[in-house]
Amino acid sequence: MDTEQLEKKLKRLAAEHAADEVENEMIVGLGTGSTTYYALLKLGERVRGGLDIIGIPTSQQTAKIATAQGISLSTLREHLEVDVTIDGADEVNPDLDLIKGAGGALVREKIIAYASKRLIIIVDESKLVEDLGSNFSLPVEIVPFGWQATQLALDRICRRSELRYVDKAPFISDNGNYILDCNFDGIPDPAQTERIINNLPGVVENGLFVNRADKVIIGTASGTRIQERRGAA
Ligand code: A5P
Repeated sequence: MDTEQLEKKLKRLAAEHAADEVENEMIVGLGTGSTTYYALLKLGERVRGGLDIIGIPTSQQTAKIATAQGISLSTLREHLEVDVTIDGADEVNPDLDLIKGAGGALVREKIIAYASKRLIIIVDESKLVEDLGSNFSLPVEIVPFGWQATQLALDRICRRSELRYVDKAPFISDNGNYILDCNFDGIPDPAQTERIINNLPGVVENGLFVNRADKVIIGTASGTRIQERRGAA
C-alpha cells in the first residue's frame, strides 16, 4: 500500500468511528474535507438503514455530498443547537487545539463548531504536531476590499502570507471572501495569536480552533486512538 492509500485508509478509519457515534434524532454538524467525506459516506449508509438525523453542512461542497448520500439538511437558523459536529483538521497539538481551513471552509466550520454541544475531530496520525503552524500554514479569511492592507498587517504577525489562488484566480470562499495562508515557524500561544489576528481590520476569521475540540479520533496503522479534552463531557 503506498502512502496515499494508507492515508486514505486511516482517514476512513477515524471517520467511520466518528459516524458510528451519531445517534438517532441528532442534529449533526457536517464538516468539510477529505476525511469528513468518509464520515458522510458512513452517515449516508446509516441513514439509508433507518438512522434519523438532520445535518448542518459547513460548506456548499459538503451540502452537495450529503444530499447525494440522502442526508436531510437544515441550517443554524432552524436548529440553533447542534448535538455534535464531526470535522477534520490540518494540525492537532497535544492540547487538542487545531489549525483548520485548508479546504477554505473555516468560517462556517468555526460558527458551527461553536454552536455544537460536542466537536469530534477526525484525522490520520500525520496531522499530530507538537506546535501548531509547524507543517501547515494558518488560513485567514479576509474581505476582498483593501486586502493588500490586511496582508501587510498580517505579515507583521506571521513570517509571510500568500493569497490563496485556484486556477490562476484568487480562491473565493462560500462567503465571497479571500484567504491568506500565513506561514509561521510554530505558534507558541494559539489563543493569543487567534485573538490578535481576529483584531485586525479586514479579517473575518482565522483557522485556529483553541480549546474547542472535545474529542479527537486518530486513524493509526494499528487502529483508532482517542484523545479527549480534559473536562469535556
Ligand atoms: C476545511 O476547510 C478544513 O478545515 C478541513 O477540515 C481540514 O483542512 C482537513 O481536511 P482533510 O480532511 O481533507 O485533510
